[in-house]
Amino acid sequence: MTSEIVRLTVNGRVREALTEPRKTLVDFLREDLHLTGTHIGCEHGVCGACTVLADGVAVRSCLMLAVQAKGAEVTTIEGLEFEGKLHPLQEAFRESHSFQCGFCTPGFMMTAMELLNEGLPFGERELREHLSGNLCRCTGYQSIVDGVLLAVEKVARGQSSTGTDTIPEGSPAAEDAMP
Ligand code: FES
Ligand code: FES
Repeated sequence: MTSEIVRLTVNGRVREALTEPRKTLVDFLREDLHLTGTHIGCEHGVCGACTVLADGVAVRSCLMLAVQAKGAEVTTIEGLEFEGKLHPLQEAFRESHSFQCGFCTPGFMMTAMELLNEGLPFGERELREHLSGNLCRCTGYQSIVDGVLLAVEKVARGQSSTGTDTIPEGSPAAEDAMP
Protein backbone atom coordinates (compact mmCIF):
# COMPACT_ATOMS: atom_id res chain seq x y z
CA MET A 1 0.00 0.00 0.00
CA THR A 2 1.41 3.38 -0.98
CA SER A 3 2.11 5.73 1.91
CA GLU A 4 1.17 9.35 1.70
CA ILE A 5 1.87 12.56 3.55
CA VAL A 6 -0.76 13.58 6.08
CA ARG A 7 -0.54 17.24 7.07
CA LEU A 8 -2.81 18.64 9.76
CA THR A 9 -2.76 20.98 12.73
CA VAL A 10 -2.51 19.30 16.12
CA ASN A 11 -2.77 21.38 19.28
CA GLY A 12 -1.99 24.53 17.31
CA ARG A 13 1.08 23.17 15.53
CA VAL A 14 1.25 22.10 11.93
CA ARG A 15 2.39 18.50 11.86
CA GLU A 16 2.92 16.05 9.03
CA ALA A 17 4.07 12.49 8.60
CA LEU A 18 4.24 9.83 5.93
CA THR A 19 1.67 7.19 6.70
CA GLU A 20 -0.33 4.37 5.18
CA PRO A 21 -3.87 5.24 4.01
CA ARG A 22 -5.29 2.49 6.23
CA LYS A 23 -3.84 3.92 9.45
CA THR A 24 -6.37 5.24 11.95
CA LEU A 25 -6.09 8.73 13.37
CA VAL A 26 -5.42 7.39 16.87
CA ASP A 27 -2.53 5.25 15.64
CA PHE A 28 -1.21 8.20 13.64
CA LEU A 29 -1.31 10.44 16.72
CA ARG A 30 0.32 7.86 18.98
CA GLU A 31 2.82 6.23 16.65
CA ASP A 32 3.74 8.95 14.17
CA LEU A 33 3.34 12.08 16.28
CA HIS A 34 4.17 10.40 19.63
CA LEU A 35 1.11 11.90 21.31
CA THR A 36 0.25 8.95 23.51
CA GLY A 37 -2.24 10.78 25.73
CA THR A 38 -5.07 9.62 23.47
CA HIS A 39 -5.87 6.09 24.58
CA ILE A 40 -7.04 3.06 22.64
CA GLY A 41 -9.67 0.88 24.26
CA CYS A 42 -12.16 -1.05 22.17
CA GLU A 43 -10.90 0.05 18.73
CA HIS A 44 -14.41 -0.05 17.31
CA GLY A 45 -16.13 3.10 18.43
CA VAL A 46 -17.78 1.92 21.64
CA CYS A 47 -15.76 3.12 24.63
CA GLY A 48 -14.81 6.70 23.75
CA ALA A 49 -11.26 6.39 25.15
CA CYS A 50 -9.81 7.63 21.86
CA THR A 51 -11.91 10.81 21.63
CA VAL A 52 -10.23 13.92 20.22
CA LEU A 53 -11.59 17.14 18.77
CA ALA A 54 -11.44 17.51 15.00
CA ASP A 55 -12.47 20.99 13.88
CA GLY A 56 -14.16 21.38 17.26
CA VAL A 57 -16.20 18.18 17.05
CA ALA A 58 -15.58 15.23 19.36
CA VAL A 59 -14.66 12.25 17.19
CA ARG A 60 -13.60 8.68 17.85
CA SER A 61 -10.11 8.62 16.46
CA CYS A 62 -10.21 4.82 16.19
CA LEU A 63 -12.96 5.16 13.59
CA MET A 64 -11.34 7.91 11.55
CA LEU A 65 -8.47 7.38 9.18
CA ALA A 66 -5.51 9.71 9.43
CA VAL A 67 -5.94 10.62 5.76
CA GLN A 68 -9.49 11.77 6.52
CA ALA A 69 -8.05 14.31 8.95
CA LYS A 70 -5.85 16.02 6.37
CA GLY A 71 -6.07 19.78 6.86
CA ALA A 72 -8.11 19.46 10.07
CA GLU A 73 -7.52 21.23 13.38
CA VAL A 74 -7.13 18.43 15.87
CA THR A 75 -6.99 18.89 19.63
CA THR A 76 -5.80 16.08 21.87
CA ILE A 77 -5.52 15.87 25.65
CA GLU A 78 -1.96 17.21 25.35
CA GLY A 79 -3.41 20.44 23.94
CA LEU A 80 -5.36 21.37 27.07
CA GLU A 81 -2.52 22.71 29.21
CA PHE A 82 -0.99 26.03 28.23
CA GLU A 83 2.48 27.24 29.18
CA GLY A 84 2.72 24.65 31.93
CA LYS A 85 -0.66 25.51 33.44
CA LEU A 86 -3.39 22.96 33.64
CA HIS A 87 -6.66 23.72 31.93
CA PRO A 88 -9.52 24.44 34.39
CA LEU A 89 -11.05 21.12 33.37
CA GLN A 90 -7.87 19.29 34.30
CA GLU A 91 -7.70 21.11 37.64
CA ALA A 92 -11.35 20.34 38.29
CA PHE A 93 -10.83 16.63 37.54
CA ARG A 94 -7.90 16.56 39.95
CA GLU A 95 -9.84 18.32 42.69
CA SER A 96 -12.95 16.19 42.20
CA HIS A 97 -11.02 12.89 42.03
CA SER A 98 -12.62 12.28 38.64
CA PHE A 99 -10.45 9.29 37.82
CA GLN A 100 -9.28 6.06 39.33
CA CYS A 101 -7.02 4.23 36.84
CA GLY A 102 -7.29 7.20 34.47
CA PHE A 103 -7.57 5.16 31.30
CA CYS A 104 -10.86 6.72 30.23
CA THR A 105 -9.92 10.23 31.38
CA PRO A 106 -8.54 11.75 28.15
CA GLY A 107 -11.62 10.63 26.26
CA PHE A 108 -14.01 12.01 28.88
CA MET A 109 -12.14 15.30 28.97
CA MET A 110 -12.18 15.79 25.23
CA THR A 111 -15.87 14.91 25.07
CA ALA A 112 -16.53 17.43 27.85
CA MET A 113 -14.42 20.03 26.04
CA GLU A 114 -16.76 19.87 23.07
CA LEU A 115 -19.56 20.98 25.39
CA LEU A 116 -17.48 23.56 27.28
CA ASN A 117 -16.25 25.11 24.04
CA GLU A 118 -19.82 25.81 22.99
CA GLY A 119 -19.89 28.35 25.81
CA LEU A 120 -23.58 27.75 26.43
CA PRO A 121 -25.16 26.96 29.80
CA PHE A 122 -25.98 23.33 30.45
CA GLY A 123 -27.30 21.32 33.37
CA GLU A 124 -26.32 18.01 34.91
CA ARG A 125 -28.86 16.09 32.87
CA GLU A 126 -27.56 17.49 29.58
CA LEU A 127 -24.00 16.84 30.68
CA ARG A 128 -24.79 13.22 31.51
CA GLU A 129 -26.34 12.76 28.10
CA HIS A 130 -23.34 14.34 26.43
CA LEU A 131 -20.95 12.02 28.28
CA SER A 132 -23.09 8.93 27.85
CA GLY A 133 -21.05 7.60 24.93
CA ASN A 134 -17.92 7.32 27.06
CA LEU A 135 -17.31 4.30 29.27
CA CYS A 136 -15.41 4.18 32.55
CA ARG A 137 -14.45 0.66 33.58
CA CYS A 138 -13.79 1.91 37.10
CA THR A 139 -17.38 3.26 37.09
CA GLY A 140 -16.48 6.64 38.53
CA TYR A 141 -19.24 8.42 36.66
CA GLN A 142 -20.48 10.61 39.50
CA SER A 143 -17.05 12.10 40.16
CA ILE A 144 -16.56 12.70 36.42
CA VAL A 145 -19.81 14.65 36.26
CA ASP A 146 -18.75 16.54 39.42
CA GLY A 147 -15.43 17.38 37.77
CA VAL A 148 -16.99 18.85 34.64
CA LEU A 149 -19.49 20.88 36.69
CA LEU A 150 -16.63 22.23 38.81
CA ALA A 151 -14.79 23.16 35.61
CA VAL A 152 -17.83 25.17 34.52
CA GLU A 153 -17.64 27.06 37.82
CA LYS A 154 -13.93 27.67 37.39
CA VAL A 155 -14.37 29.03 33.89
CA ALA A 156 -17.22 31.25 35.10
CA ARG A 157 -14.96 32.56 37.86
CA GLY A 158 -12.58 33.77 35.22
CA GLN A 159 -10.08 31.02 34.60
CA SER A 160 -9.91 31.17 30.83
CA SER A 161 -10.55 28.14 28.72
CA THR A 162 -7.31 28.16 26.73
CA GLY A 163 -5.30 25.59 24.89
CA THR A 164 -8.14 23.95 23.06
CA ASP A 165 -9.26 25.24 19.70
CA THR A 166 -8.05 28.73 20.38
CA ILE A 167 -4.35 29.27 20.82
CA PRO A 168 -3.68 32.74 22.27
CA GLU A 169 -2.02 35.14 19.85
CA GLY A 170 1.73 35.40 20.20
CA SER A 171 2.15 31.97 21.75
CA PRO A 172 4.76 29.68 20.13
CA ALA A 173 2.00 27.34 19.06
CA ALA A 174 0.19 30.19 17.30
CA GLU A 175 3.34 31.17 15.48
CA ASP A 176 3.97 27.59 14.40
CA ALA A 177 0.44 27.43 13.07
CA MET A 178 0.98 30.39 10.77
CA PRO A 179 1.18 29.41 7.08
S1 FES B 1 -10.96 2.99 21.23
FE1 FES B 1 -12.15 4.30 20.00
S2 FES B 1 -14.13 4.17 20.81
FE2 FES B 1 -12.99 2.71 21.97
S1 FES C 1 -10.97 5.77 35.70
FE1 FES C 1 -10.50 3.73 35.16
S2 FES C 1 -11.60 3.42 33.33
FE2 FES C 1 -12.30 5.31 34.03
